[in-house]
Amino acid sequence: MNNILLKLDGVHTHIGAYHILHGVDFEVPAGEVTMLLGRNGAGKTTTLRTIMGLWQASRGNVTFDGQAIGGERGRRITPDISQLGIAYVPESMGIFSDLSVRENLLLAARNARTIDDIDTQRLEWLFGLFPAIRKFWLYPAGKLSGGQKQMLAICRAMVEPRRLLLIDEPSKGLAPTIVQNLIAALRELKKTQTTVLLVEQNFSVAKALGDRVAVMDDGRVVHRGGMAELADDESLQHKLLGLSLGAHQ
Ligand SMILES: Nc1ncnc2c1ncn2[C@@H]1O[C@H](COP(=O)(O)OP(=O)(O)OP(=O)(O)O)[C@@H](O)[C@H]1O
Ligand SMILES: [Mg+2]
Repeated sequence: MNNILLKLDGVHTHIGAYHILHGVDFEVPAGEVTMLLGRNGAGKTTTLRTIMGLWQASRGNVTFDGQAIGGERGRRITPDISQLGIAYVPESMGIFSDLSVRENLLLAARNARTIDDIDTQRLEWLFGLFPAIRKFWLYPAGKLSGGQKQMLAICRAMVEPRRLLLIDEPSKGLAPTIVQNLIAALRELKKTQTTVLLVEQNFSVAKALGDRVAVMDDGRVVHRGGMAELADDESLQHKLLGLSLGAHQ
């Protein structure tokens, strides 16, 4: 345990003329859920996009399972990230509105040509976690509610075993009861020892799921540690995240 699956080392990212990440350093241990927290505009999404190679790191290194996948050492290699078993659920969810729920899942399964190629047990497991997926199986994904779309986006990332899941704010815009379903589903995923890097604004979600935490501010990681320790330290939360004391349980 505690092998480091993903490592960011002094990562700088420029978007056009803007210098967004100013030396991001953190590690994601295998088999754990690492939370990436921080105020709006701190650089969380930019960090995930840099890991995925959607933005180029202008300095520093991104290493996955010992292999350079981005930054100075990775630039000449540019491996196919999806071949490495990394799945990304973006803030915008990345689902195809005109296609059915079923087709959306099938397209996400790289090793399946037809739905029959998808491991039935895994599909049943997903249906159990997200009943709406079975219920709306043949519906166009665009007709699902915001919460159901979010569930579908997460299912797409979970339809095959992955080595690393990057998920950007899955609870955004969801009703509190749906957030509880989401937590339950991600807890089940956690039991499978899937390595997850999860961006969240909802501190109770972070607290319920995180093993470790990295907190970003202004394009840098300003705190790293155990999630439980941060959850127990209200003054640190206040300092790092601006959470008001007693604002959550
Ligand atoms: N395409 C872009 N062009 C220019 N600036 C950008 C672009 N994308 C992000 N930024 C800037 O980079 C900074 C970090 O943005 P990012 O989206 O990574 O933040 P975030 O931590 O994900 O915030 P949020 O919690 O609001 O999603 C912000 O100041 C943002 O304005
Ligand atoms: Mg973001």
